Amino acid sequence: MSRLTEARVLEIMEKYGNDAQQLVAILLDVQEASGKNCVEREWAGLISKKLDVPLAKVHEIITFYAMFSTTPRGEYLVEICQSTPCGFDKAEQVVAWFEKASGVTMGQTTPDGKVTLMRTSCVGACDVGPVAKIGDEVFGNLTEEKVSAIVAACRNGNLESMGEMTC
Ligand code: FES
Repeated sequence: MSRLTEARVLEIMEKYGNDAQQLVAILLDVQEASGKNCVEREWAGLISKKLDVPLAKVHEIITFYAMFSTTPRGEYLVEICQSTPCGFDKAEQVVAWFEKASGVTMGQTTPDGKVTLMRTSCVGACDVGPVAKIGDEVFGNLTEEKVSAIVAACRNGNLESMGEMTC
């Protein structure tokens, strides 16, 4: 069951002046507020109705941008860079480290709902590759030890204490 309420979704839309031009920003806020890192069907419908935007258009945006999901994901989205140059020779090794540390494979979410593993393209931190991005934080120069500590921090809810490992 969603922790979001209709009132909260309306409040988010109000914050953006109920402006259909702000649809992406509204959807991002709704996704963040969901606690599941996804835009649920009922809220997509409410947004469509309130902003007078066709539901098909709302779904088109949600499915076009990789940052959106319609299905529940973990509290922490671990996005592992797969682009050359930082991921060229290490990408699969880093993926294996994350899969080992989390116990799930790419695209899956840990049973505690904390971590979802995803692939991403360049996040602009090639000089410290291999790299993974979690929210706004970029973790560089990844080693198996670092990956293990990052996953543990996500599960323990103290990722902010990992600041010294960001780049
Ligand atoms: S190629 Fe990975 S951050 Fe640029």
